Amino acid sequence: MEPADIQGDLSEVLLSEAEIHARIAELCREIERDYEGRDLLLVGVLRGAVMVMADVSRELRRHIEMDWMAVSSYGAGTQSSGVVRILKDLDSDLTGRDVLIIEDIIDSGLTLSWLRENLSSRGAATVEICALLRKPAAAKVEVDVRYVGFDIPNDFVVGYGLDYAEKYRNLRAVGVLAPHVYS
Ligand code: XMP
Ligand code: MG
Repeated sequence: MEPADIQGDLSEVLLSEAEIHARIAELCREIERDYEGRDLLLVGVLRGAVMVMADVSRELRRHIEMDWMAVSSYGAGTQSSGVVRILKDLDSDLTGRDVLIIEDIIDSGLTLSWLRENLSSRGAATVEICALLRKPAAAKVEVDVRYVGFDIPNDFVVGYGLDYAEKYRNLRAVGVLAPHVYS
């Protein structure tokens, strides 16, 4: 159950906590198969991917390592510009590593295509992406995402790590923010 005042700010619940967990379990079985016999470094993108990282890492029945990056898109407004600034870098050396980027959402794809390039250029053996959500209608660049939780409509969504003005990250579901909240 969500606190009533938070739930009331949503015009629609897109994904319940149970649906999210069931899908994450499916993705983790794929990840376990694909990376069998290889070390795996999960790289979470702060702050939105915190919940995805917590659930994916705990669902995996194998050893993993975890590291974090924080990035921000340059440019005015709420649209991603594709020019990305590193706010917090990884602590790990990526040379020869199998890296799986853990993200909350792919919108235009600009952030993730930059990030994949950046991590590959540090000598990682492989760089793949796992994103809970993807908005196909918002894509500006093609990003090859190996593990996608759900394709969703091109609405602004919050919850499960995703924020509006830093709030709603603690919502267990993913929902569409009601217009009365931001107008
Ligand atoms: P791009 O466009 O580069 O951007 O794929 C991905 C980043 O944009 C943020 N984003 C959202 N955040 N609700 C949010 O709370 C949304 O609907 C949404 N769409 C994009 C997010 O930070 C993501 O990492
Ligand atoms: Mg994010």
